[in-house]
Amino acid sequence: MDILVVGGGGREHAVIKALSASPKIGKIYCAPGNGGISKYAECFPVKATDIDGMVSLAEKLRPDYVFVTPDDPLVMGMVDKLNEKGFRTFGPRANAAILEGSKVFSKSLMKKYGIPTAAYETFTDADKAIGYIRSQNSYPAVIKCDGLALGKGVIIARNEEEAINAVNSMLLDGKFGKSGSEIVIEEFMTGPEVTVLAFTDGKTVKPMISSMDHKRAYDGDEGLNTGGMGTIAPNPLYTKEKADECMEKIFKPTIEAMQKECRPFKGCLYFGLMLTPNGAKVVEYNCRFGDPEAQVVLPLLKTDLADIIEAIYEERLDSLNIEWYDEACACVVMASGGYPEKYQTGLEISGLDANGQLADNKAFVYHAGTKYENGKFVTAGGRVLGVTAKAGDLQSALDKAYSAVSEISFENAHYRKDIGKRALAK
Ligand code: AMP
Ligand code: GLY
Repeated sequence: MDILVVGGGGREHAVIKALSASPKIGKIYCAPGNGGISKYAECFPVKATDIDGMVSLAEKLRPDYVFVTPDDPLVMGMVDKLNEKGFRTFGPRANAAILEGSKVFSKSLMKKYGIPTAAYETFTDADKAIGYIRSQNSYPAVIKCDGLALGKGVIIARNEEEAINAVNSMLLDGKFGKSGSEIVIEEFMTGPEVTVLAFTDGKTVKPMISSMDHKRAYDGDEGLNTGGMGTIAPNPLYTKEKADECMEKIFKPTIEAMQKECRPFKGCLYFGLMLTPNGAKVVEYNCRFGDPEAQVVLPLLKTDLADIIEAIYEERLDSLNIEWYDEACACVVMASGGYPEKYQTGLEISGLDANGQLADNKAFVYHAGTKYENGKFVTAGGRVLGVTAKAGDLQSALDKAYSAVSEISFENAHYRKDIGKRALAK
């Protein structure tokens, strides 16, 4: 099976690493890829959001499957276009990717089908939104853009002034473009967060091992929200009892709801959950693997990923038994100093061998934002590397990952020192 993977971050590197372990996989192509990925796949300089460019590339390479990994091409309908041209794909079509592409859609779906989530109202008019906020007079208030906003479209306002500023930045100032032309204002929920990725062919849903992201930039959950500074799997807060509750109240009802709406979801569905005092609730859906959740979940997958991709495409996931290693995995993201705000790129990364890995192989180094230039790896993004290790227990996986991190350096490198701390304290 030759496969073209669309995207170029740490998550795509994790998908490619998992695919490369499969005896069924032939050639692996990636577009656009990155420095580290180029050691495992042939990379082509086509942007992940360039739908026509990607279709042309697929027509040139004729892969057996195209794996569309990031949110924006999925929401824009890349899978639909590829299917029209006769390509087999992994990832939802646009009418199902809308679960991530529009929070107004996903909230109304959950309301209609009784799937637990925060209470909410939607607005397009700033005065009405502000009137609602004043009438609720409850803080923190959660204000979200309808559309994709690179993870920045959610504002947790601590008081009325912050809430009004958030509403105005979205509805009046157009800070988030079209994504912010409609907003959701919702109830603030409390409790630990869990990510559950799930394979689904639109009919059957098979949850993967749970994980925990660390979204804030600094230790102790301080600083701005980022794409994710590190992950661990499994998430010890997600007990068997919670898993059963989520299966019955959230996972199955979501898949059934999408089926009833004639929007069957095929691919990986990301459930961002909060374990509130009133039960598990959905914080968000994403229409794809999480980044850096994929980096810790896929190394625990025992079943051949190529078999899963085929079973999903052919809608026979019910007959496939998916197995997992009974181990723990930890990923520590090394980011550029300044991320998620302004940062420098083009800095040489030291400590890596010719494959962008560690000579002693004590951990796997997923490349997120790197380039390979003149025989050297240099930084090329906010999140640069995801240093990942697997072991029999979480503490050992973290020890291995942090020990590997200490062998890698670049100017102003920043990483959190407390990945997994809360999970271990459980
Ligand atoms: P989202 O992009 O919707 O996942 O939101 C980003 C982050 O904001 C989440 O991971 C939560 O930490 C937080 N968040 C979002 N919605 C709520 C809510 N209703 N209550 C509390 N925290 C929230
Ligand atoms: N790590 C969060 C996400 O992928 O959305």
